[in-house]
Amino acid sequence: MLGFLGKIDFGSDLVALLGGLGFFVVVVATAYVAGLYMKKMKEKSTSGAPLAEENWDGIGEYKNDVPTGWFVVYFILIVWAGWYWLAGYPLNAYSQIGEYNDEVRAHNSKFEAKYSNADHATLKAMGESIFLAQCAQCHGQTGDGMNGKAADLSKWGNEEGIMATIKNGAKGLGFPMGEMPAGLVDEATAKKIATYVMAEVSTAKKAGDAAVVAEGKAAFAASCASCHGEDGKGMNGMAPDLSTYGTPKFIAETVLVKGKKGHIGNMPSFEKSGLLNKTQFVAVATYINSEMSNPKK
Ligand code: HEC
Ligand code: HEC
Repeated sequence: MLGFLGKIDFGSDLVALLGGLGFFVVVVATAYVAGLYMKKMKEKSTSGAPLAEENWDGIGEYKNDVPTGWFVVYFILIVWAGWYWLAGYPLNAYSQIGEYNDEVRAHNSKFEAKYSNADHATLKAMGESIFLAQCAQCHGQTGDGMNGKAADLSKWGNEEGIMATIKNGAKGLGFPMGEMPAGLVDEATAKKIATYVMAEVSTAKKAGDAAVVAEGKAAFAASCASCHGEDGKGMNGMAPDLSTYGTPKFIAETVLVKGKKGHIGNMPSFEKSGLLNKTQFVAVATYINSEMSNPKK
């Protein structure tokens, strides 16, 4: 039963040594006090101490002093507990989890420094492997959403995506404005608005017919600005900043950070899960943006 004692290296591990000593003292003191009481019970001795005033249907209690051994051990344990938290094994001292976290932090800062100025091709290549490992199981290897299991990324981040958002509404990113209602404008107007947003609001600046853009701008002011702001920038975080829509920034700084509880399912926040760091956010967003949502054909 006490075989585990053999496995402890008492020579170098002060905490184990004191813990072991404490354990030993507690066992001995318990045995001693229990023995004392057993003996008293056998002798039917009354302690000689005065009876306490209260009694329960005639069953009373002696005002015995605390047994000395118990008393001493109790105080030693209080002192030992203080020593344990403050000096013996303080909360901020070495721990395996702490060592692991330090190593991960060190690695991440090395990683971020190395890729802080990564060029487009590097980010895209990194993004592709991240996508295959972290996103493809829901979005499919080509980002088509596997028949509606997740968002079809080819229909996202461009005019088509904006039109679909207007038609179906949008929810689940957790903005203070809550949900965007479906069907705010008809399809023809939606198309003009989408052209305007991609040409003038989004920094993607996709060229659009000037007349259509102007009509879209008026329609945007009438139907969208109340939540997204006149400039489409989302009124300081009340609704999504559409100037980033169609650029890697929207994915890296909104979608992956917030996660999405949507019409067809949920996507976890990659910031909360800690599965990816910020460089990887930008990488996978760059990959999606250039290969899926906004293909440069
Ligand atoms: C009632 C407020 C409100 C109005 C009006 C509104 N939106 Fe939104 N919009 C939101 C909110 C909130 C979100 C974030 C939805 C979410 O949580 O996914 C959003 C999201 C979006 C998105 C991003 C969708 C995505 O894929 O994440 C686009 C694009 C968009 N809105 C465009 C528009 C356009 C264009 C109009 C005008 C026709 C409009 N919105 C009107 C509140 C609004
Ligand atoms: C557990 C499944 C799952 C995983 C893993 C996942 N997604 Fe999603 N994602 C979804 C679902 C479901 C939606 C659509 C939610 C809706 O609108 O109903 C979505 C939506 C999106 C959107 C559109 C968001 C919007 O605002 O409309 C983007 C962009 C996206 N995902 C990118 C990614 C990237 C990048 C990864 C990997 C780092 C990833 N997703 C991993 C399930 C997933």
